[in-house]
Amino acid sequence: MAIREVIKMGHPTLRLVAKELEEDEVKSPWFQELITDMRETMKACGGIGIAAPQINESFQTAIIDLPEESDRYPDAPESHEYIIVNPKITLLNEEKQTFWEGCLSVPGLRGQVTRPAKIRIDYKDENFVDQSIELEDFLATVFQHELDHLFGELYVDKVVNNSLTYEEEFAQFHTEV
Ligand code: NI
Repeated sequence: MAIREVIKMGHPTLRLVAKELEEDEVKSPWFQELITDMRETMKACGGIGIAAPQINESFQTAIIDLPEESDRYPDAPESHEYIIVNPKITLLNEEKQTFWEGCLSVPGLRGQVTRPAKIRIDYKDENFVDQSIELEDFLATVFQHELDHLFGELYVDKVVNNSLTYEEEFAQFHTEV
């Protein structure tokens, strides 16, 4: 168990399509350790999600966990912990939504991203059992942000409204009280 280094934008691993996991891999101690490291690293950084490629492990797994109180995302709703393996996203309608996003691999910045507002994700859980969830609102954005990491994409590729902003200026000019 360890807090791992979070690799940053420019590191080639962040631009790879990560490898799908096999059942025997997910049921191995190696996977348990990977998830533990991801969880500890995410919590140490104050993140609400982390994908394996962000700790330089190019595999299709991510954790999403919106805590009761997050310093980085004070307005975010609470969730339980989701462990996602080999996800497939389906859009459920044409509706879009725009939220401010940040990323542990792009420290110090925030930007607005427009994404589909209602999605279904079919995935395997940490026991390699099939799961399916429908998501909307901020949680739909959080999942899409994390799952983008499994396919070599970063939110900064998708920023809208010329909104890319340093965190200090974000706090000064872009948070409504
Ligand atoms: Ni990210």
